[in-house]
Amino acid sequence: MITTNELYRKTLLTIAGNPRIERLTIKYGKSLARRFIASEHLDGALTEVRKLNEIGIMATLDHLGEGIQVLEQATGYRDEYIRLIEGISKSKVQSNVSLKPTQMGLALDPEACYQNIRAVAREAKYHRNFVRIDMEDSPYTEATLQIVERLHREGLTNVGTVIQAYLFRTEADVQHCIEHHIPLRLVKGAYKEPAAIAYQNAKDVRSQFERIIQLHLDQDVYTAIASHDDRIIQFTKRYAAEHSISKERFEFQMLYGLRMQEQERLAAEGYRVRCYVPYGTMWYPYYTRRLAEKPGNLMLVLKNMGR
Ligand code: FDA
Repeated sequence: MITTNELYRKTLLTIAGNPRIERLTIKYGKSLARRFIASEHLDGALTEVRKLNEIGIMATLDHLGEGIQVLEQATGYRDEYIRLIEGISKSKVQSNVSLKPTQMGLALDPEACYQNIRAVAREAKYHRNFVRIDMEDSPYTEATLQIVERLHREGLTNVGTVIQAYLFRTEADVQHCIEHHIPLRLVKGAYKEPAAIAYQNAKDVRSQFERIIQLHLDQDVYTAIASHDDRIIQFTKRYAAEHSISKERFEFQMLYGLRMQEQERLAAEGYRVRCYVPYGTMWYPYYTRRLAEKPGNLMLVLKNMGR
């Protein structure tokens, strides 16, 4: 049976897909989106990262953009990521970067996308930094995993990706990535996926999430667990403590603007914590996924409207 939260999520993602709603939100909703977006510019984003570092939180910077329409946009994003990696190096903040395959052209020209990501990964390797390839919706799952594997075969092992617990295929993907030494961020999954390939029920997603956390922590590989869910955080802490897994072997990741006190608290307890910090002007799809995740996120925005 579908729960109220699941119905809310599906409805919001459907409404957000309406072009008229998108136009109106972009026109009037910019100041409200600021809660989840660090800045429109690189300098502002680096300033936010510095503040996070001062309280013991690392970052991953995301220059917002996805689903580009023409390939030239991808080269613009590639160059922006190269500037970003240089900026991180110069300012000496503790941050790696996260990017999206469709931002680099995956939907238009997979080989061009590969070359764009490769250029970013090489720049990151030069600066001893790391590139996380975010996982988008299911038409891109296989291609994204193949890109990461190919980069690793070329020696660009400073690249990792994301595995979504809601997909049925997930456990096999985690096993495969472990065998190929591909660093993973584990998440629930943020897109609207059909029942033929993905769990629809929050309880099933959480169970599979716990299974893959356990599977990953049992191996001698570094694990990134990205969730705001207390049950997932407590599960990870408990499992690590019971199996003598050191706090150095994993990190918690959360999104900028969400559960900031919890991020600080975990860092103060000695856990490694990384905040996902998005910046840029193309905030609409990212923003609507955040609103869809939790009615509370929409309430936060509505409360700010009154101010
Ligand atoms: P969820 O939103 O399901 O909330 C579960 C419970 O947690 C709530 O009922 C509540 O009890 C508690 N909770 C949540 N938010 C709270 C808050 N603000 N205050 C208090 N309690 C709260 N997805 C994807 O498909 N591809 C990707 O590449 C990524 N990347 C990514 C990076 C990072 C750093 C994060 C944190 C997340 C992603 N995601 C993602 C998104 C992810 O798949 C998922 O959609 C969201 O994290 C929401 O799921 P949660 O596990 O956070 O809890």
